Amino acid sequence: MTTKPTYQTWIRMNKLFIFLGISLLLLLVTLFPIPVYLRLLSGMLALPFLYIAFILSYSTYQFAAFGGSYQSKIHDVIVSKVDDGSGIILDIGTGSGSLIIKLAKRFPHSSLTGIDFWGQNWEYSKGQCEQNAEIEGVSDRIHFLKASASKLPFPDAEFDIVVSCLTFHEVKDSRNKTDVMKEALRVIKPGGTFVFMDLFLDENTFGKKTELVADLTMHGVVELKEYKLTDILPLPKILWNKKVLGNAMVLSGKKAK
Ligand SMILES: C[S@@+](CC[C@H](N)C(=O)[O-])C[C@H]1O[C@@H](n2cnc3c(N)ncnc32)[C@H](O)[C@@H]1O
Repeated sequence: MTTKPTYQTWIRMNKLFIFLGISLLLLLVTLFPIPVYLRLLSGMLALPFLYIAFILSYSTYQFAAFGGSYQSKIHDVIVSKVDDGSGIILDIGTGSGSLIIKLAKRFPHSSLTGIDFWGQNWEYSKGQCEQNAEIEGVSDRIHFLKASASKLPFPDAEFDIVVSCLTFHEVKDSRNKTDVMKEALRVIKPGGTFVFMDLFLDENTFGKKTELVADLTMHGVVELKEYKLTDILPLPKILWNKKVLGNAMVLSGKKAK
């Protein structure tokens, strides 16, 4: 078994390679012995692909442990918002297990479950989560399960704490992402807490923030706190891009007793 855990970044490598491949191909065409206007056209077409490939590669570098470690830093922010982590914790969309493993290490008396759909377009897997937990010495307290965030396989009020990072907006089997958040709230015990990080300022996905907050409040959420990510963690400019983390917010709160 490898001795180092593997935590991939949120940037899908296949997406990065597709954009890089297309831009290189279009640039290659500019070297062909074809009419100048076609070479110019190809060069111009390459520009947007190159731009996206650049954003994706530089974001990967900033998120990765070999670069700015921002992914780990964001998980640290979420962990720091969990006041008392001694109970039963659920991480929705656990990815490669990075956040839940940090929680397990920070709260040695907790017992934890990480669920994820681990769809084919992501480079994470259940096996990788289990291996990471084993390497980090917390596998005896974490259980990983394949399930969809839109229909959690748990009874109501099962968990003391529910966390989730950048997952609700990815859930494809529910059109309404606020409904996915409500499904997460369903499994929290009365008086239990949550910390969610997602692109909550993206109105196309979550609607107007005031309405989202009102909806959550009507759904029994109290002591709701909102933090714009860029206000609580200094991020490199490139990650402020709306397509990256410009719309990211942390929402934390409690389920009414
Ligand atoms: C941006 S990644 C975040 C992963 C992890 N939370 C982290 O912070 O490293 C989004 C995650 O959402 C998961 N996901 C997508 N659709 C899902 C669904 N319907 N149910 C549960 N997880 C889902 C993906 O498999 C992926 O792991």
